Amino acid sequence: MSSDPAIERAVDTLRRGGLVAFPTETVYGLGADALNESAVARLFAVKGRPRTHPLIVHLGSGDWLDGWARVVPPAARRLAEAFWPGPLTMILQRSRRVPDAVTGGQDTVGLRVPGHPLALDLLRRFGGGIAAPSANRFGAVSPTTAAHVRLDLGDDVDVIVDGGPCDVGIESTIVDLSNGAPAILRPGYVTAAQIEAVVGVPVQRIRREAPRVPGSLESHYAPRTPLEVLTRGALAMRLAESAEPVAGLAVMSFELPDADRRRVRLFIEPSRDPARYAHEFYAALRELDAAGAKRILIEWPPAGPAWEGVRDRLRRAAGPGTAEPERDDREDLGP
Ligand code: TXA
Ligand code: MG
Repeated sequence: MSSDPAIERAVDTLRRGGLVAFPTETVYGLGADALNESAVARLFAVKGRPRTHPLIVHLGSGDWLDGWARVVPPAARRLAEAFWPGPLTMILQRSRRVPDAVTGGQDTVGLRVPGHPLALDLLRRFGGGIAAPSANRFGAVSPTTAAHVRLDLGDDVDVIVDGGPCDVGIESTIVDLSNGAPAILRPGYVTAAQIEAVVGVPVQRIRREAPRVPGSLESHYAPRTPLEVLTRGALAMRLAESAEPVAGLAVMSFELPDADRRRVRLFIEPSRDPARYAHEFYAALRELDAAGAKRILIEWPPAGPAWEGVRDRLRRAAGPGTAEPERDDREDLGP
């Protein structure tokens, strides 16, 4: 076991009811002792999140499942075996010890074993569940570095464990196994097809679930600058005949003529690899947001299961009324 002083301090802080930001493989979490109701209450206050919106409880091992879930269906065991530690959250019926403060009074609980060595070290040394939303203020862009956390939360967090940039870069896939047929509540790095291959039954893809799940609100993960997500054709047209000055635009696109790249305020060319795109995604959103632009324009990533997570975050970041294109005729992006 490591004796990382930051981890020691973090464990101590959790035991005293404090708040600890820590890295996971997806995004940074803002953690509190899941069994300490006043710590959890402070967590909601710092996040600015409505108390009815449930938190994920992070566990140090799949072996802890039975302490937190009242019923662990065989499908959940198989998924834990296949994907934990890793970027998958399961919604299960909660055990009696899970406080209402964590679940917003719901009879289910979100559980996940994060795939990051520092997170696992923290959890195992602490020896209990850590309730943790992403370490950003409610509705804002999730942090993928310790510096993002500091910027967002400042002194409201007692300890920040710095684990460098997060690998995956977008939040975990959430699968609901609490009432029979599995359903994806939030797409992510682990795809529906991968889950189906493990559980052996069809998995529902729920796109716009109940608003009590904040990750499912229409406008979430959002920069402050107005954001539009467009097809490449629509983007080209906006740059050709924009009513607003092109120098006021911050643009992220896979393909843009050099002349246009020079005219806009900031241009970012994202990776064509979905995992790499996700890894860089929130940092890119922050950069676009910080450019002092009047508007952010982002080209839709391709269709296909590996892109579902980032397409989902883009749709939510852009807010209500953002519909994905029906047809994709870009030849350079492949299937
Ligand atoms: O990757 C992640 O999941 C990150 C890292 C820190 O683990 N955490 C994260 O937490 O994204 P948060 O709170 O930002 O998003 C958790 C999502 C919310 O949409 C929440 O409503 C949903 O999980 N959730 C938690 N418990 C639930 C439950 N019992 N039923 C339905 N949804 C639940
Ligand atoms: Mg969040």
